[in-house]
Amino acid sequence: MEPDPGKNQLIYFDNAATSWPKPAGMMGAMGYYNEMIGGSPGRSGHRRSLDAGRIILETREVLAELFGIDDSLRIAFTKNATEALNIALLGILHSGDHVITSSMEHNSVMRPLRFLETQGVQISVVSCSGDGRLSPEDVHAAIRPQTRLLVVTHASNVTGTIQPIAELGHIVRDHGFLFCVDAAQTAGALPIHVDEMAIDLLAFSGHKSLFGPQGTGGLYIREGIERHLRPLMMGGTGSRSEFEVQPDFMPDKYESGTPNTIGLAGLGAGVRFVLTEGVEAIRSKEEGLTERFLKGLASLKGIAVYGPPDAASRTAAVSFNIAGVSPSEAALELDERFGILCRPGLHCAPAAHRTIGTFSQGTIRFGFGYFNKDEEISFALEAIRSLAAGD
Ligand SMILES: Cc1ncc(COP(=O)(O)O)c(C=O)c1O
Repeated sequence: MEPDPGKNQLIYFDNAATSWPKPAGMMGAMGYYNEMIGGSPGRSGHRRSLDAGRIILETREVLAELFGIDDSLRIAFTKNATEALNIALLGILHSGDHVITSSMEHNSVMRPLRFLETQGVQISVVSCSGDGRLSPEDVHAAIRPQTRLLVVTHASNVTGTIQPIAELGHIVRDHGFLFCVDAAQTAGALPIHVDEMAIDLLAFSGHKSLFGPQGTGGLYIREGIERHLRPLMMGGTGSRSEFEVQPDFMPDKYESGTPNTIGLAGLGAGVRFVLTEGVEAIRSKEEGLTERFLKGLASLKGIAVYGPPDAASRTAAVSFNIAGVSPSEAALELDERFGILCRPGLHCAPAAHRTIGTFSQGTIRFGFGYFNKDEEISFALEAIRSLAAGD
C-alpha cells in the first residue's frame, strides 16, 4: 500500500470506540425491519407489532446463546454499555454499601461511582500494575463486611489488558456479594460465559465487537437480582397496562418506552455474524493482527508501547506514543497524510492513564477489528516509522 494524499484510502483503526465496517447482514436486517415491519413491539397486538416483538426476541436469544445465558429474558436492552452500567451501579448500591473497582476503569464506571460516593457509598479503587493487570489477591484484600459489589472491566479500552474475570467471579461468589463486569471491549471479541465466570451483571455495547449499530447495548441480570435492582427509568412497557406501578419482572422492569427496534434488528444480525464466524476465530484473527503490530512497533525507534507485551494477554486495542509528537498531533497526521483513523488522548479513562503513567497527555490508540488486514498493519507501521523519524 502507498500513501494516498487524495484521501481515497482509509484505514479504520478505531474499532475500540465503535466497529466499522459492519457485516452486510446488519444493514439488511435494519432495512427489512424498516420496509417490511415498522410496528411497535409488545404494544398494539397487530401483525406488524407481533413481528417487531419477534425480532427483539430473536436478538435476545442470539445474545443469550453467545454469553451462555439460559433464559434470554434475563437480558435488558439499553442504548449502550454506559446505560447498562448506570442501571447496575445506581440500582444496586445504597448509602453505607462498599464497592470495589480497579484503577483501569472507564468513566462509564467511575463517574456513576464518584456520584454514588457523594451519596454515602464507600469505594475502594484497587491499583493495577503498570501494564494494567488487576491482582485477584489485591481484590480479596479489599473485601469488607459491607462490600456489596465488585465492578471491573473485562478488558481495558486503553491497553487492552484482559482481567482474570473467572477468578475474580469465584472470589466474589465465595464471599456472597455481587459481580458486575463491563464487557464493552470484549462482548463478541473474547469468549464470555456468565455462569462459568460467576458473573451476576454483564454490561455490553452492541456497537463494538457485536457489530450492531450505535444506540444498542444491554445488561444481563442474574435471576433474583432484579428484586433488589432499582430501574433507572420507569414508564410504558406494553405489559400490565392496568397498573400505574412499574412491572417487577424481567426484562420489562428495565425497558420502559418504545425500544430501538430497528437498532436491535441490526444488533441481532451482528450477533448472528459473530456466532457464524465463531468468537474463537474472531479472537484468533484480532490476536494475530495485534501480535504483528506489537512486533513491528518493537523494531521501531522512539516508540513507547503500553500494556502487556504479549498479544495473548490483551485485546486488539493498543496504546502507544511517539517520542516528540503529541498523541493528538500524531492522530491528525495519521489521518491527513496516511488516511489512518485512530483515537488520541485519554479515551474516557483517566485512572487507566494514571496507572500506566500517561496522564495527562494520553496515548495514541489503535483499535483493530475483524475486518482489518495484515497489509494495513504493515502500512501503519511504516507511517509510524516516518512520523517518529520526523519525515
Ligand atoms: C471499557 C469501556 N466501558 C464502557 C464503555 C462505554 O460504552 P458505550 O459507548 O457503549 O456506552 C466503553 C466505550 O468505549 C468502554 O471502552
